[in-house]
Amino acid sequence: MVITKDIKYIGVNDRKIDLFEGQYHVPNGMAYNSYAILDDKIAIMDTVDAGFTHEWLDNIRDVLGGRSPDYLIVQHMEPDHSANIVNFLKAYPEAQVVSSVKAFVMMKNFFGTDFADRQIVVGEGDTLTLGRHTLTFVTAPMVHWPEVIVT
Ligand SMILES: [Fe+2]
Repeated sequence: MVITKDIKYIGVNDRKIDLFEGQYHVPNGMAYNSYAILDDKIAIMDTVDAGFTHEWLDNIRDVLGGRSPDYLIVQHMEPDHSANIVNFLKAYPEAQVVSSVKAFVMMKNFFGTDFADRQIVVGEGDTLTLGRHTLTFVTAPMVHWPEVIVT
């Protein structure tokens, strides 16, 4: 799905889930949102739930035009957004992970590694230039979980 010329929606729809967070009725299901920003460098924004690994990786491949992503931006570590970090990094061994210091601590706990040789830690007001696009990171601790950033 095209958002702009350079930004593509690569998320997936979960039509089987009945309760969000185990308690809220979602009769139409829900979406796990993920985006690709295509520039001199390519950034992928968040991953998706563990049940949609192949569909999501296919969505990424379909928008890359044969290129490889440079960055995976991890804004939140709850598993419906973060479950495919390891799968992504295996598929794209040159990519780096961009996230908050707290999220990298959670990655170590979740996955047994914080990808020390591939991590870029960002904090309040930090920026990452892709080419024509510059991403600015804003921390949002305890808006939801303590590690949350918005971009
Ligand atoms: Fe969440």
